[in-house]
Amino acid sequence: MAKFQLNEDKHTSGVYFKRDITIVRGKGALVWDENGNEYIDCVSGQGVANIGHCHPELVQTIEQQSNMLITCPEIFYNDQRSKLLTKLSELSPGNMQRIFLCNSGTEAIEASIKFARLSTKKTKIISALRSFHGRTMGSLSLTGQKKYSQPFAPLLPGITQIPYNNVEKLTQTFDDDTAAVIMEVIQGEGGVRLGDRQFLETVQELCNTNEALFIIDEVQTGLGRTGKLFATEHFNLKPDILCIAKSLGGGIPMGATILGSRIQNIHAGSHGTTFGGNPLACAAANTVLDIINDKKLLADTINYGEYITECLKKQNLSNIREVRGLGLMIGIELKHKVTPVLKELQNQGILALPAGNTVLRLLPPLVITKDQVQTVTNAIIRILTNIS
Ligand SMILES: Cc1ncc(COP(=O)(O)O)c(C=O)c1O
Repeated sequence: MAKFQLNEDKHTSGVYFKRDITIVRGKGALVWDENGNEYIDCVSGQGVANIGHCHPELVQTIEQQSNMLITCPEIFYNDQRSKLLTKLSELSPGNMQRIFLCNSGTEAIEASIKFARLSTKKTKIISALRSFHGRTMGSLSLTGQKKYSQPFAPLLPGITQIPYNNVEKLTQTFDDDTAAVIMEVIQGEGGVRLGDRQFLETVQELCNTNEALFIIDEVQTGLGRTGKLFATEHFNLKPDILCIAKSLGGGIPMGATILGSRIQNIHAGSHGTTFGGNPLACAAANTVLDIINDKKLLADTINYGEYITECLKKQNLSNIREVRGLGLMIGIELKHKVTPVLKELQNQGILALPAGNTVLRLLPPLVITKDQVQTVTNAIIRILTNIS
């Protein structure tokens, strides 16, 4: 085993399942290992590299901003942050006005819990089974997958998980004590499961007509992944709180909790973070948003996604249970374990993700080329044909 892997294995915390390659370089939708082997990257740093690896404009921005100013806490004003806040507000669904900047998806969710409590003075939150909202104690408590949360009980009180897309359970559970309902528009880690329009509209309606807030977690679906800047746009939803992260900083850690007009009672000192809104991440995010907010890129995302799903469906492979997705967020549910498929894809120069035990998940950079899309599709068909 190569030196880097031995050293990492010796000293890493041990919380990650590791794959036996050392990635040292990336460009667009491609990454290379230390031996120069090339891979089409449908992992994208877990859905981070929406604009691809080392996009030249992002590299230039990071270079320039590093020479200007890297850190500047939010107790001072900053030019890059000011630009980013304006941009995010203008791009957000329903022109949401206020934004808390942080450093990861889980922090964006934690902030949403605190703001929902402050705003409503209530503590009950409804989330969905199979959801994933992060690994810190608040977001973990919302996460509807026992394998992640059970070892860390007791969790945050007041949280009820209902089956995703179940309107009846939602209306039964929702009451005057409900502070917020949090939903992913497409459950990512939970197996790439699409939200049902009627269900999501019922959440919106219940929250709007009662004193409760609709929190949408777009940490994975946000920023072009589904072919719209925000996946909520497919459903015309207007969240009270919108959480994003992953691709926002193009790989520089960043998250944001975007707040609508119904959020109240936020005052200086009620929340904060040292690194949140730092100029380097803000400059990177300004460039990322300019690149993603492009009609052709978003149209390609939809077209390539449809191409992959249609090709796979047409094959009628006996080991595929279902192909699901929107844009370049694709889940291929198999009738068997996904691990051997992931291994074989890697042997054939393609990196992909699982979502649970049986779903093959593709989150390629949105800048992936048609040729690369075809290579990935053909490889999946070939491998699944040989396995069945
Ligand atoms: C929908 C969703 N919410 C929250 C998170 C947590 O984000 P992070 O890993 O940046 O804390 C993730 C991570 O995969 C996610 O997919």
